[in-house]
Amino acid sequence: MKIAVIGGGGREHAIIKSLKKSPEVESIYALPGNGGIAEDAECIPIGALDLDEIVKFANDEALDYVVVAPDDPLVMGLVDRLAEAGIPAFGPTAAAAQIEGSKAFAKDLMKKYGIPTAEYEIFKDVRKAAAYVEDCKLPVVIKADGLALGKGVIIAKTREEAREGIATIMEEKKFGSSGDTVVIEEFLEGPEVSVLAFTDGKTMRPMVSSMDHKRALDGDEGLNTGGMGTVAPNPYYTKEIADECMKRIFLPTMHAMNEEGRTFRGCLYFGLMLTKDGPKVIEYNSRFGDPETQVVLPLLDGDLFEIMRATTEGRLDEVDFSFREESACCVVAASDGYPVSYRKGFKVTLPKEHDQIFIAGTKLGEKDGEICQLTSGGRVLGVTETAATLPEAIEKAYAKLAEVHFENMYYRKDIGKRALEALSE
Ligand code: AMP
Ligand code: GLY
Repeated sequence: MKIAVIGGGGREHAIIKSLKKSPEVESIYALPGNGGIAEDAECIPIGALDLDEIVKFANDEALDYVVVAPDDPLVMGLVDRLAEAGIPAFGPTAAAAQIEGSKAFAKDLMKKYGIPTAEYEIFKDVRKAAAYVEDCKLPVVIKADGLALGKGVIIAKTREEAREGIATIMEEKKFGSSGDTVVIEEFLEGPEVSVLAFTDGKTMRPMVSSMDHKRALDGDEGLNTGGMGTVAPNPYYTKEIADECMKRIFLPTMHAMNEEGRTFRGCLYFGLMLTKDGPKVIEYNSRFGDPETQVVLPLLDGDLFEIMRATTEGRLDEVDFSFREESACCVVAASDGYPVSYRKGFKVTLPKEHDQIFIAGTKLGEKDGEICQLTSGGRVLGVTETAATLPEAIEKAYAKLAEVHFENMYYRKDIGKRALEALSE
């Protein structure tokens, strides 16, 4: 089988490394891939948003299968376009990807089908939104409706912050047209859990749970980022909570999407908060998480390609797979200054054995007369290690990270600390 993976971050690198293990996969293209992915796939300089070029390439190369990893091309309808061209692809249709593409759609879906989530109001009119935050309960959470690289969420602790939040999203349009509509919702408290699940609209198969570390600085301080590290499994997510989520959230979501004529086939990501009133949905994503994938897939016992194809073909119930009862930890190394501004173009040195180092932001270039990987993004790479226990996985990940070098490298020193505290509670 000749396949392609769309995207070029750490998540895509982890997906490609896992797909490579399948005996059915002969060759993998990455569009566009990156400097590290180039070790595992043939990188083609076509961007993930260039739908016309992607479909043309898939046709010209007579690809057997395409995996669409990032949210934008899913929401833009790449899976539909490929299907029209007769090329099967992993990921939801545009209609189903709305579960991530519009927070207003997702909230209304949850309300209609009784899926637990934060109380909310939706506003298209800036004056009405501004009036609402003058006497709502504080803190309050203000979200741009559309995709905003995970940054369109403002948690306002004061009226002044809420006013500024509305202005930033709806008037200054910091997130572009994503902010034409806002969702204003109740502030929830409790540990957060990420659960990725394969679903074909008939079967729901959650993967091992994980915990993201979204803030830039140690102790969960600083700005929100795409994710500075992850651990799996998430110790807060007990078997009892998993059963409750399956019954009250996962299956009802699958049925709701079917009912709406938007059957979801792909990886559905549940961002959950375990509140004192039970688990509630914070957000849905229509794709694998980044860097959740970097801890989930290394624990997979099964053939990812076979699972993906079965998901696309609606026969997920036929595939056998499980997750090893081990722990995984991924520590992200970023360019200092991320997520605001940072310098790039520095040479990256990796240890000789780097099979579980997933590259997020490098490109191949020349330095001191040799071709090497140069930093080209905020998040540069993630180092994953697995072990029998979480403390061991964390220790191994940091030990490996000590063998990685690039100028301006920054990473959090406390990935997994909260999970360890939860384990000892
Ligand atoms: P989202 O992009 O919707 O995942 O939001 C980003 C982060 O904002 C989440 O991971 C939470 O930490 C926080 N957040 C979002 N919604 C709420 C809420 N209703 N209550 C408390 N925190 C929230
Ligand atoms: N790590 C959060 C996300 O992928 O949205």
